[in-house]
Amino acid sequence: MSDYQYDNQTVKGFIVSSIFWGVVGILVGLLISVQMWKPEMNFPPLFTFGRLRTVHTNILAFGLGVGAIFGLSYYILMRLVKRPLLFPKLARVQLYLFNVGILLGGVTLLLGMTQSLEYAEFEWPIDIAIVILWVMFAVNVFGTIIKRREEQMYISLWYIIATVIAVAVLYIVNNLSIPASLTKSYHLFAGVNSANVEWWYGHNAVGFVFTTPILAMFYYFLPKSTGIPIFSHRLSIIAFWSLVFAYLWTGAHHLIYTPLPDWIQTLGIVFTLFLIAPSWGSVINGYYTVGSDWSKMQTNYLTKFFLMGITFYGLQTVQGPTQGLRVVSQLIHYTDWVPGHVHMGTMGWVTMTTAASIYYVIPKIYNTEIYSEKVANIHFWFVLIGQLLFSITMWITGIQQGALWKAVNPDGSLKYTFLETLTRNYPFWQMRTVAGLIFTVGMLFFIYNVYMTMRKGKALASTTA
Ligand code: HEM
Ligand code: HEM
Repeated sequence: MSDYQYDNQTVKGFIVSSIFWGVVGILVGLLISVQMWKPEMNFPPLFTFGRLRTVHTNILAFGLGVGAIFGLSYYILMRLVKRPLLFPKLARVQLYLFNVGILLGGVTLLLGMTQSLEYAEFEWPIDIAIVILWVMFAVNVFGTIIKRREEQMYISLWYIIATVIAVAVLYIVNNLSIPASLTKSYHLFAGVNSANVEWWYGHNAVGFVFTTPILAMFYYFLPKSTGIPIFSHRLSIIAFWSLVFAYLWTGAHHLIYTPLPDWIQTLGIVFTLFLIAPSWGSVINGYYTVGSDWSKMQTNYLTKFFLMGITFYGLQTVQGPTQGLRVVSQLIHYTDWVPGHVHMGTMGWVTMTTAASIYYVIPKIYNTEIYSEKVANIHFWFVLIGQLLFSITMWITGIQQGALWKAVNPDGSLKYTFLETLTRNYPFWQMRTVAGLIFTVGMLFFIYNVYMTMRKGKALASTTA
């Protein structure tokens, strides 16, 4: 029994905020999926596909993703260093600023204020707010680690540290821009350099928002919820260092067959291929951990979330390097294959692992048991089916699109007009909306379960374990 208290209020605040922004982002996702096959569902000027797509991606990455990262990282951090946060009040201010920032970010995107860089659309005043937020997070993470009461640094801490440093560097460098007014700025880099820096940032946003912090959760909550220690600490450390080393070089795989110098593309591809190894280091570690007692899959409802999450991560990290190859890229690039890839990672790996972590945390800080394992199981199956249907449909339509674009007549002219290739996507896009609906129903079961658990228990301002 420890003699210190871990603050739960801020952790809870971030989790609830993250769920709230998740609902907003997912509903917008559903709407834009309809807009793609039913143009009348665009309501100009604010609610058009062009504006709402950026709301969808940013609210989910920064609201759902970063909100959960802040809350769950603080939860993990305190327990691994065996002390409360060094600056609890700062974390509370960070929580309020976070919500104001996401709200402002969403509204400005709706109003059409954008830097036109994917995942870095927010204009410079919001960027400054995000950097301040991140500095607050960094100060608390590093301060608390420096003053830790446990000498050993468990692997999740390394993943959190990598997240803090990498996101700071990436975000600041890619958002260097010259403001022309309060709502408009121009990227400091021009032409091909701008594209290169943007995709160095873009892919590493995936690496350090959708991968390293989620692995921190995976490595912490899987052993905690199953009671099985992680299979190999050494493997996790080797995988960690090779992952952070390789990730930062891969951005150019987004720019294959573009004016970016060929050698930079090749370098990106080489590191992209190499990335299979560290990614699978964690996949194997996860499998061997559960493999020491497979019965947990039946007896512990969270195990299947974590195992299915890491399975999607494993599939994602085979698919990713494959589509980075020139021969594959020339077929699937610019097609719907890519959103298929994206949503296997986000809806499968990220949302499953985060939801399972929240299922673990909420009963602990409400001093109760989960409201219903049955509801959690229903949530699991809906999310799984919705996600699979989404990704598989997109892969099929992506290959079809790529093949139609490439088809030529004997005289070398294109066989299909662009419009013809577009209208063939409609049935697939309709299917994607159905998939999104199934996924959303699953997430509603999750929210209901979390809400009922909160009602059933009694919030503890702090806990000792
Ligand atoms: C070994 C790991 C991975 C590699 C090598 C990889 C590789 C790639 C490649 C080559 C593309 C570009 C496809 C194209 O446009 O032609 C891509 C796109 C993307 N990937 Fe991955 N991927 C990996 C893991 C992940 C994970 C785990 C996630 C999310 C959870 C993810 C999310 C994305 C996103 C959001 C894009 C779309 C970017 C855009 O065009 O807007 N990837 N990935
Ligand atoms: C009901 C669930 C969802 C639906 C219906 C949905 C729908 C969509 C649609 C229609 C697009 C635009 C695709 C295009 O431009 O061709 C998109 C893009 C995207 N969504 Fe979702 N989405 C959902 C869930 C999520 C979740 C949970 C996340 C992240 C946590 C996410 C992250 C993204 C990202 C990063 C992109 C950009 C992909 C790219 O550029 O290739 N989505 N989504």
